[in-house]
Amino acid sequence: MSCRVIIGTQWGDEGKAKIIDYFTAGADFIVRYQGGANAGHTVVVNGKKFVFHLVPSGMLHPGKTCVIGNGVVVDPEQLLREIAVLEKEGYEVRSNLLISDAAHLILPYHKALDEAMEELRTNKIGTTKRGIGESYSDKCLRVGVRAGDLLDESLLRERLSQTVRMKNLQLEKIYGKPVMQAEAIIADLLRYRDEIGGMITNTPYLLHAALHSGKRVLLEGAQGNMLDIDHGTYPYVTSSNPTIGGALMGSGLNAFDITEVVGITKAYVTRVGEGPFPTEDHCEAGALLRERGGEFGATTGRPRRCGWFDAELMKHAVRINGLSRIVLTKLDVLSGFKRIKAAVAYERNGRRLDFAPTAHLDDVVPVYEEFDGWDEDISTCTDYAALPARARDYVEFIEKTLGVRISIISVGPDRDNTLVREQA
Ligand code: IMP
Repeated sequence: MSCRVIIGTQWGDEGKAKIIDYFTAGADFIVRYQGGANAGHTVVVNGKKFVFHLVPSGMLHPGKTCVIGNGVVVDPEQLLREIAVLEKEGYEVRSNLLISDAAHLILPYHKALDEAMEELRTNKIGTTKRGIGESYSDKCLRVGVRAGDLLDESLLRERLSQTVRMKNLQLEKIYGKPVMQAEAIIADLLRYRDEIGGMITNTPYLLHAALHSGKRVLLEGAQGNMLDIDHGTYPYVTSSNPTIGGALMGSGLNAFDITEVVGITKAYVTRVGEGPFPTEDHCEAGALLRERGGEFGATTGRPRRCGWFDAELMKHAVRINGLSRIVLTKLDVLSGFKRIKAAVAYERNGRRLDFAPTAHLDDVVPVYEEFDGWDEDISTCTDYAALPARARDYVEFIEKTLGVRISIISVGPDRDNTLVREQA
């Protein structure tokens, strides 16, 4: 039995898509388990760049079954756009993509309310305005519309007319925004039903059956550990659980089904949106990381905040997710830095802290260890021994500090720029 989970260990944008693409070769089912179109997964295949927000990146591999799990919030309009792009490029989508009937939909009022609420907030979160928090809120309030509801027109009409009335009150009376027409939304939903209705099914049942008949499953997380609504830097987080708990909830698989948890970790750290970031570098190094690493959001185009590797936050990610191994990405971006820094502890008021207080990181001061950098371009290295000694020292420092093996190192954006130390 093989069920591998891929989890981002920082604030998202760790380069998960490329690694998911790599592991997809050895999987039969690829499952997105949380988040929605707030994610932006970029995969480069033979120099051609694809950015996915919703469909699993596995769609680029013919013959694989891709699943949008029950933990995902699905913007149907965005989904149709991605399907159209893939079909235009000659990929077979309709027979390879399954959508959980329990996945909640993101509707126009979710996006409008996300934007309106963010406008009004004094402490802005910097959301992607994709309606993520609003859709998950409706799920918890038990007023959401699920993919499976598309298949029952009378239920859909009843639910929508009630919910739109409620949402319009919010939009108009609280935020002074234009109201929405239930009929127009229902018409769109019926169009989505015609387009994607055939892909909607009970995915937990199918996944269990697949796994227990020897199929290999890959669970693909979006965002990262520090954006987790429970374990991240609340309230500056997303509204789902990118961590291991979310992988189980959002796929319907159970703890005993999981055979491996792979943490994806960038060789430095970035963050999009607001919130604490202890190792952020506001000076030259941060700007250089942004420029060399192409650190601009795949979903919103916003420049990412950049800073040094943070072992304290990584220890938190190791604990929460039980990482079996780590894939280190973007090591090539550090080439050319004279000195490389990494936080190994935090202090508050001059006193060393025992652990990262994730909800109160504003006033912690990172304690850094410094390393000599290397000048060589490492993007063509496919053998660990061929890396400059200083690059290897840095990799081994991370491994030793976290007590987790780094088994793959990504040294460039293409599939070929990947250094595999040990095969899975
Ligand atoms: P939301 O998920 O749109 O509600 O945004 C909440 C926070 O999570 C904001 O700071 C976003 O910038 C951040 N965020 C959401 N999705 C991603 C992602 O895929 N990568 C990086 N940051 C993200």
